[in-house]
Amino acid sequence: MGVRGRRWALALCAVAWSCAAALLLEADQPFRVPDGWSHAGRVPADHSVELTLALRQRGIARLHRLIRTVSDPGSPQYGRFLTLEELRRLIQPSPGAVAAVEKWLRSSGVEECRSVTTRDFLQCRMAASVAERLLPGAEFHRYAQGGRSVVRSPRPYGVPEDIAPHIDFVGGLHRFPAERKVVSRAWAKKEAEWERSKGARAAFHLGVTPSILRKRYNMTAEDVGQLANNSQACAQFLEQYFHQADVAEFMELFGSSFRHRSSVDRVVGPQGRGKAGLEASLDVEYIMSTGANISTWVFSNAGRHESQEPFLEWLLVLSNTSAVPWVHSVSYGDAEDSLSRAYVERLNVEFMKAAARGLTVLFASGDDGSGCRREPGGNHTFRPSFPASSPYVTTVGGTSFRNPFLVTEEVTDYISGGGFSNVFSMPDYQAAAVQQFLRSAPALPPESYFNRGGRAYPDLAALSDNYWVVSNRVPLPWVSGTSASTPVVAGMVALINDRRLRRGLAPLGFLNPALYGLRRRGHRDAIYDVTRGCHVSCLDGAVQGRGFCAGPAWDPVTGWGTPNFPRLLEALGPPPDAPHK
Ligand SMILES: *[C@@H]1O[C@H](CO)[C@@H](O)[C@H](O)[C@H]1NC(C)=O
Ligand SMILES: *[C@@H]1O[C@H](CO)[C@@H](O)[C@H](O)[C@H]1NC(C)=O
Ligand SMILES: *[C@@H]1O[C@H](CO)[C@@H](O)[C@H](O)[C@H]1NC(C)=O
Ligand SMILES: *[C@@H]1O[C@H](CO)[C@@H](O)[C@H](O)[C@H]1NC(C)=O
Ligand SMILES: *[C@@H]1O[C@H](CO)[C@@H](O)[C@H](O)[C@H]1NC(C)=O
Repeated sequence: MGVRGRRWALALCAVAWSCAAALLLEADQPFRVPDGWSHAGRVPADHSVELTLALRQRGIARLHRLIRTVSDPGSPQYGRFLTLEELRRLIQPSPGAVAAVEKWLRSSGVEECRSVTTRDFLQCRMAASVAERLLPGAEFHRYAQGGRSVVRSPRPYGVPEDIAPHIDFVGGLHRFPAERKVVSRAWAKKEAEWERSKGARAAFHLGVTPSILRKRYNMTAEDVGQLANNSQACAQFLEQYFHQADVAEFMELFGSSFRHRSSVDRVVGPQGRGKAGLEASLDVEYIMSTGANISTWVFSNAGRHESQEPFLEWLLVLSNTSAVPWVHSVSYGDAEDSLSRAYVERLNVEFMKAAARGLTVLFASGDDGSGCRREPGGNHTFRPSFPASSPYVTTVGGTSFRNPFLVTEEVTDYISGGGFSNVFSMPDYQAAAVQQFLRSAPALPPESYFNRGGRAYPDLAALSDNYWVVSNRVPLPWVSGTSASTPVVAGMVALINDRRLRRGLAPLGFLNPALYGLRRRGHRDAIYDVTRGCHVSCLDGAVQGRGFCAGPAWDPVTGWGTPNFPRLLEALGPPPDAPHK
């Protein structure tokens, strides 16, 4: 931060009254008003804003080493996860740093702050005029979209030079809530097709339902949760809600072949009464179909306050709650290049914190294939998505049936997000697999399109095409995207946890070291290798719309492939000789 901050500090003097010794934070964070949002003027001086200060943590190197030992099945420390209290002791900011930040806040008249168990976030409420004095350069404006509005600063912000070393970033200034339009690819086109052909075609076409998934992934009627004290979760960040009545109707229509629950047990955060969202319905209905008969939570973080960042809110809840579900499915992402480096790196530490606690966090790999971005010079490069590109989450890509009328072979779903991070370097656990791919792929895109030394994703995949969903009491076909495959995999992980916990073993936690070690440990058939098809990318002369292609073993389109549940359970579940608890 230092060098960049200093260079920018000069520019700041021109705009801020207190240019004395302020350093810009997140100077590389682009401010872009997303399509559909319009500027609605500067907020009054007394308008209340709520800012989230990410305080600099300590012990990151130790955290990194700890995760290696607790997540590697070959390590004697495997499964020795930390409690939230133990995690706090490892990473909490130094008392001196906290005192300095608190003194700075108080001296600016900020009194209303809340902390979290790990003490590495502070959430403070103050008048806009106070926030503008506190963070020289910031200027709070309102932006509206339909009935929603957010308060953000179009201008960069700084903090005093002596405070800068204690703060990673301040949330609630630049980033807009991410839109999630990852569902129902070609929705309009397919809907038209559906309308035209009505029942006739639908009767023949094989849509994906829970029983199709359970059949394809070889799950039997016995493969349901048995333990009361095990749970799974999905997280929602839009003002989007699921309805319990939809879940019940979905299970009535599609759940006859397996024991399941018909309602969500716990909603953390606001659960509004508006129309149900398709995405929210999809997540809940499918995590409860593979993770059948397992208690399900929904984290609903639409952002209660206009100046909050909903995704950040979810991370704060995790850092402030000691007992949360072991498995989290999240279908959310932004282009890596639309986020500041400080933000992306800090969020990665948040995923490390989850890993240290034994939580499995799964992210959808995105629905734009390798993505595409025009560089300032005019050339294209691929565009990785974050958090999919974090080395501390498990990223799920998408497949479709090769023959849509047969529940057999899967091929690449051409939208399946995948590629190489430009921020994170390749973690050890995947180096051999990814090098093997790079060495043996018959054709690769030009080197200028991707960072071959970066964290490569996805890690695995599942069907992502043509799901049936019940939303607002209406069964809808053709719902597609990696936001379908992610809860499907999450439910299976929760089921393996169920079997482990019953035998007194630790849950799986951060899955990737175990996942990338499956073949080495002789579990080749735990994952069905998807070897056909390519995903989409830039429409230009050099790559002609083609990104990477699936191939044998790991690839940046479908990862290792899709789960073969009984073999995966054998590989990652309790050994046959483990005693029943
Ligand atoms: C964290 O939890 C504590 C105890 O429940 C609460 O007082 C505090 O306000 C919470 N922090 C945030 C940021 O919500
Ligand atoms: C479903 O889960 C409950 C505990 O939550 C358990 O008592 C019950 O036996 C399970 N049902 C089946 C069929 O395993
Ligand atoms: C249930 O799980 C939570 C943590 O997820 C734990 O704190 C609690 O002790 C467990 N309860 C039982 C009865 O095992
Ligand atoms: C664009 O790509 C071409 C061909 O690879 C290369 O010669 C050129 O230097 C690139 N331009 C810029 C601005 O990077
Ligand atoms: C399910 O089992 C059958 C044979 O038992 C096997 O051929 C098939 O590959 C398995 N499914 C997957 C997805 O691996």
